[in-house]
Amino acid sequence: MKISIITLFPEMFSGPFTASIIKRASTAGKIHIEFINLRDFADDRYKSVDDHPYGGGAGMVLRVDVIDKAIRSAVSRSEVPSTERQIILLDPQGKTYTQNTARELSALQHIIFLSGHYEGVDERVRDLVDREISIGDYVLTGGEIPTMVLVDSIVRLIPGVLNKPDATRSESFEDNLLEYPQYTRPEDYNGAKVPSILLSGDHAKIRAWQKEQAVLKTKKRRPDLT
Ligand SMILES: C[S@@+](CC[C@H](N)C(=O)[O-])C[C@H]1O[C@@H](n2cnc3c(N)ncnc32)[C@H](O)[C@@H]1O
Repeated sequence: MKISIITLFPEMFSGPFTASIIKRASTAGKIHIEFINLRDFADDRYKSVDDHPYGGGAGMVLRVDVIDKAIRSAVSRSEVPSTERQIILLDPQGKTYTQNTARELSALQHIIFLSGHYEGVDERVRDLVDREISIGDYVLTGGEIPTMVLVDSIVRLIPGVLNKPDATRSESFEDNLLEYPQYTRPEDYNGAKVPSILLSGDHAKIRAWQKEQAVLKTKKRRPDLT
């Protein structure tokens, strides 16, 4: 999968993208990440990418013409048909991100992420993207952290990236359930014991218990999922 990230702050990605699963996926050639600096598409000598909002108001708004050029540049270098590609604007006004969306996006060949900043983007930018995604009902400074959230959650679902791909199938939000309780050593910690069924060696009974616990846990903690 190719991942193009349009941002004013590519340096923000260096930590999260050079460790753990994303690093491994890049090294193994499962993903190719490119950064596109929005400032490279500014056409005045000050390299401005933003301007004051019409009608007044606080802050600056990212310009549609500059963003359009950056998106066109990413698309022009794309080697896949538009059906295999999506352009995503990270935006608090977008549709709230879920695991189902992550799974859907993990099947694409090329994703172009657009990170907003300052007061956000000119409203006409919404017509240039395939979808707008929010990572929750709160406002962050920029779209870089939301992009990292999406990239991480999508990349781990790409076949061959995780050593044990089946692990993602029982994780929280698959089948609208939270994951069952997990335990490891020690067996008894200050009187808090690992449920005896998990020590029984009876795999069929263990699976049934895990399924039942996932349902109970979801009903208790996240009744909205069921
Ligand atoms: C300060 S925010 C702009 C918020 C905008 N003025 C509003 O009230 O809707 C700047 C940028 O951060 C990103 N952003 C902030 N919160 C986000 C969220 N919850 N989900 C996704 N992106 C977000 C977006 O890219 C946005 O353009």
